[in-house]
Amino acid sequence: MDGAAIIEQLVGPDGRADPYPLYELAHGLGPVAPCGPGVLMAVGHHACDQVLRNPAFGVPDPVQREAWEPGFADHPAKVLLSRSILERNPPDHGRMRSLISSVFTARRVAALEPAVTAAVHRLLDTMAAQGADGSPVDFMDAFAFRLPVGVVCELLGVPEADRHRFRGLASDLTAALELLTDDGELATADTAAEELSDYFTRLAAARRAHPQDDLVSALVQVGAAQPELLSGHELLANLVLLLVAGFETTTNLLGNAVALLFDHPEAAAGLRSGAVTPAGLTEEVLRHDSPVQLTSRIALAEGLDVGGVPAPLGTGVFVLLGAANRDPARYEQPARFDPTRRDSHPLSFGGGPHYCLGAQLARLEARIALPALFARFPALAPAGRAERRDRLVLRGYRTLPVRAA
Ligand code: HEM
Repeated sequence: MDGAAIIEQLVGPDGRADPYPLYELAHGLGPVAPCGPGVLMAVGHHACDQVLRNPAFGVPDPVQREAWEPGFADHPAKVLLSRSILERNPPDHGRMRSLISSVFTARRVAALEPAVTAAVHRLLDTMAAQGADGSPVDFMDAFAFRLPVGVVCELLGVPEADRHRFRGLASDLTAALELLTDDGELATADTAAEELSDYFTRLAAARRAHPQDDLVSALVQVGAAQPELLSGHELLANLVLLLVAGFETTTNLLGNAVALLFDHPEAAAGLRSGAVTPAGLTEEVLRHDSPVQLTSRIALAEGLDVGGVPAPLGTGVFVLLGAANRDPARYEQPARFDPTRRDSHPLSFGGGPHYCLGAQLARLEARIALPALFARFPALAPAGRAERRDRLVLRGYRTLPVRAA
């Protein structure tokens, strides 16, 4: 199978259900392979890292997107995401990144630890009550969604009463990040984009009138004082991105972790005994079943290459993070789940200029939540068939029934 056939299979139902056999085939073609005219596919850990770190490989901007996806500009979901930091190149990217980093600081994240711990125990109490009579509890709804959505909403300053709406809206919107979306999914993504934009327009206006100690207020104040640093459209796009990126991926990390621990009871036992550290477990879940499987770049300059393969100006590159994390040239027995691995450095949070701004927060949540969950429910077990979301890029579970008595 050549690169083009592998990408075609990956975006199809088999690849969405389980991309890993296809990644193995891709590694057989080498760290980088052509997968269509003017498009490369990077699967080697070093090659992916090299592309992500090289600022000469940018993200596809709206002009390139329109060329690749005619009608791009007619979709509010795609336009909204393209105005956020995630899909911007220099100089806009650097301007937004320093601004968001100035309010979303490591200190602010570290200060959340007691609140995250308290939220974990509150949610575990609720799970215990729900499962007390032996009935199954859906871990995705009861915990994996509620913890990160609560944390990021605290950070942003989104009122508690509004949070339940976001799981559906975020899931609808992020369909627009997939490589292949049908018209129905795109229409739903567009509706979600409009609803989320309206929501944050109202919240930003409320915080403009009455600022509080939260990220929405902080960004609104910067935008008001220096509109050249953040336009109104950019403010909205980045607020929506922070909300959605702030919980969807972490929800999937928690779900993927629990499913892996069910398949590997020795790792769950190790977590309880201390032989497996929460940090080691979190890194291995990120590596083994990354919540983000793929991103894309485009060559913004002449004379570039990816792992020695020429990438002339305008070449598109699929960066297969989930495949890089299973690169046999980088990892011994890459398909083995081993939370005691050292020096792992998975690419699940990306790398270089767009390296995930929330990596520290996501890791903090997982490191607190996973040991607490397995300590609280020593007999935690699957209670029915887990269902995956039908997605390639954002990989996780829709439902994961557990017995939490
Ligand atoms: C960027 C993954 C959690 C906010 C990224 C990128 C990846 C990623 C792969 C880079 C995309 C690219 O290079 O094209 C993840 C994973 C998470 C997670 C796997 C959880 C397990 C979070 C959280 C937040 C967040 C909790 C915020 C509260 C962002 C933002 C960017 C980003 C704002 C854009 C950075 C930029 O473009 O400069 N994330 N993320 N993420 N992430 Fe995360």
